[in-house]
Amino acid sequence: MEWKTGLLLLISYAVTIYAHPAPPTHVVHEKRDSLHRRWTKKSRVNPFSILPMRIGLLQRNIDDGPKYLLDVSDPDSPNYGKHWTTQQVIDFFQPGAETVQAVRGWLVNAGIAERRVTISENKAWVAFDATAHEAERLLHAEFHEYEDSVTGRVMPGCDVYHVPQEVGKHIDYITPGIKLLAPDVPSKRMKKRDTRVGGIAKPSRMVYAPSGSWTMPSSQNLSNCDVAITPACVAALYKIPPSGYEHPNPANVMGIYESEAQYYAQEDLNLFFANFTPNIPKDTHPSIVSIDGGPGPTNNVSEAGGEVELDLQLAYPIVYPQSIAIWQEDDAIYELNPNQTYTWGFNHLLDAIDGSYCTYSAYGETGDDPNLDPIYPDPAPGGYKGQLQCGVYKPPNVLSVSYGGQEAHVPWAYQRRQCNEYLKLGLQGTSFLFASGDAGVGNYPEPYSFDGPTGCLGPQGTIFNPTWPNNCPWVTNVGATKVYPGRTVFEPESAVYDPAGHPYHVNFSSGGGFSNVYKVPEYQKYAVETYFAQHNPPYPFYSAIVNDTDLIGSLGASGGIYNRIGRGIPDVAANGDNIATYTGGEFGLSGGTSASTPIFSAIVNRLNEERMNRGKSPVGFLNPALYKNPGVLNDITNGTNPGCGTLGFFAVKGWDPVTGLGTPNYPKMLELFLSLP
Ligand SMILES: *[C@@H]1O[C@H](CO)[C@@H](O)[C@H](O)[C@H]1NC(C)=O
Ligand SMILES: *[C@@H]1O[C@H](CO)[C@@H](O)[C@H](O)[C@H]1NC(C)=O
Ligand SMILES: *[C@@H]1O[C@H](CO)[C@@H](O)[C@H](O)[C@H]1NC(C)=O
Ligand SMILES: *[C@@H]1O[C@H](CO)[C@@H](O)[C@H](O)[C@H]1NC(C)=O
Ligand SMILES: *[C@@H]1O[C@H](CO)[C@@H](O)[C@H](O)[C@H]1NC(C)=O
Ligand SMILES: *[C@@H]1O[C@H](CO)[C@@H](O)[C@H](O)[C@H]1NC(C)=O
Repeated sequence: MEWKTGLLLLISYAVTIYAHPAPPTHVVHEKRDSLHRRWTKKSRVNPFSILPMRIGLLQRNIDDGPKYLLDVSDPDSPNYGKHWTTQQVIDFFQPGAETVQAVRGWLVNAGIAERRVTISENKAWVAFDATAHEAERLLHAEFHEYEDSVTGRVMPGCDVYHVPQEVGKHIDYITPGIKLLAPDVPSKRMKKRDTRVGGIAKPSRMVYAPSGSWTMPSSQNLSNCDVAITPACVAALYKIPPSGYEHPNPANVMGIYESEAQYYAQEDLNLFFANFTPNIPKDTHPSIVSIDGGPGPTNNVSEAGGEVELDLQLAYPIVYPQSIAIWQEDDAIYELNPNQTYTWGFNHLLDAIDGSYCTYSAYGETGDDPNLDPIYPDPAPGGYKGQLQCGVYKPPNVLSVSYGGQEAHVPWAYQRRQCNEYLKLGLQGTSFLFASGDAGVGNYPEPYSFDGPTGCLGPQGTIFNPTWPNNCPWVTNVGATKVYPGRTVFEPESAVYDPAGHPYHVNFSSGGGFSNVYKVPEYQKYAVETYFAQHNPPYPFYSAIVNDTDLIGSLGASGGIYNRIGRGIPDVAANGDNIATYTGGEFGLSGGTSASTPIFSAIVNRLNEERMNRGKSPVGFLNPALYKNPGVLNDITNGTNPGCGTLGFFAVKGWDPVTGLGTPNYPKMLELFLSLP
């Protein structure tokens, strides 16, 4: 949203300020109950000031979205696998012609001439400039200036506004209105972007160098998988046969998301292939899907990014000879600037694969958030000079994402709007897999995060702190398991827990818990209810869904420390510890749900390959099929995910908020997904 601040400063005119009481034909559309303490209401806006008015039109059918997503992804549905085209999705959700007509008619009647009004191409919003006087008359509102104590920013707004009764049902929100768009408060900004843990939309990966009398694991020997996980260990754990394809399907290139200017170095990939996967030729490499200037590889191996190297070195052995594409979001100038405050993410990725998302309007936000997402063209020297990319790439069948943050840090509207988009892309057949987080039921404590000394929420820092965007019900979350010392790949794995210092500098446990923003989705209800009925966690709880993430910290007032009615995290799991990798020319052992996610995603890519070769569609949104067929996963029943000063939840028989339904059993998954239409 653009706001011409300068105009607001002219406030000294001597004019009569009228009140505009609402007639009985009008109803309250939005009303602010309380003003956040960072804002101060100041003087009335000068009636001659020009306000850039935006009316977000109500999207149709979004409440029915989950039903339609299930229709194409529930194995019992006759329409399983019949994904929608992009155009079908746009047409289905965009506001109808009657909505545009109703709003236009209202404006014209109120004296806003038709030629002053612009309607966005996807009918998401209506825009016009109006004097404050006109806006007040139109909305039966009083506009005041509001000053933000944190940034000094001044915004126009009102406490309440009205629209005609019959028009209200077509409108999502109007700005300027009750919404005071605030940039992220500084205390919530990421403190250290070079610390590879903590913060927002960070890659979740850790690494250590093996010590002492350690010998390099040999590529096919399975007796050291409790020390180092090689591609042979992964294949044995999940019974993954060699792919065997000579001619992989060109429409099934595996997608891996990267950000923070993660450069891969061919030298590292070559070292890895030579040592562990002699079947993969030297110089095999991914393609780069550059989003808004996202960078490609580096020739300087010391600049190589650990996340991208880990992702590639886990995925290639599973999908080769299928190719991989790195989806790299945002230019290196933004990403590497230690002062950058654009700490959220994924909106530009979604813009690039769905042009209608660039102007999608929901929950009071239209398009990207100028305070939270980088702006293009990037004015900085060397920055990406093109326009924001909208709808320039076809979405991949599978996208592996080892980045994320905490749901409590991400503004409610921002994350809800984005979650709707994951639903729409699920309808089109894309599988999104997200790492569930590495800090168990909490977040990392300071200084690795800004969540205080415990990394948890509430005044005492005791409330569990679920991850984002994992909380969105329309993605698949991957937790992490481990082969503990002395165990083999022929025994069941356990939930990972590595105490701080052994070997990583922070505690590492599989991210899990229950969202405070989304209620438990239909497909997950049975699994979650069974978990509570048979394995009641030993902690007090509360039951609440918030519509403002600032409220999350106050949820535990009753003493509860986790939500009993939220979407459960994760859905599934895979190995995430002691992974053999090369980064920066050096061998190391890496861990995190950053590792489990590309493993699981690569397996899904293989399933798609098999389905597509039989003329079937990709699997798309996985969860309904997995929750109805938990037997295709290896149930994990040992271990916990410590955090917030507790042991966390317990891995038990059936679904649990530590390892979800369990780890892949490739032959069983293949059998299931080939049996589906
Ligand atoms: C595998 O490694 C173990 C332990 O290092 C060793 O004892 C064994 O001989 C190796 N097996 C093969 C077939 O090389
Ligand atoms: C390679 O990158 C490292 C780390 O950024 C830097 O110190 C070094 O100067 C670079 N070397 C070359 C040849 O550019
Ligand atoms: C970051 O901010 C500091 C302090 O304001 C400034 O000195 C430095 O030049 C900035 N760095 C970049 C890359 O913008
Ligand atoms: C948010 O929730 C509160 C309390 O449940 C409710 O009073 C309010 O109307 C809700 N606001 C919106 C915008 O849904
Ligand atoms: C069960 O998990 C614990 C960690 O919670 C681990 O120490 C132990 O070795 C695991 N047991 C087995 C049989 O893997
Ligand atoms: C690790 O977790 C324990 C138990 O919750 C906690 O006491 C300790 O402070 C944590 N350490 C770090 C470095 O996070």
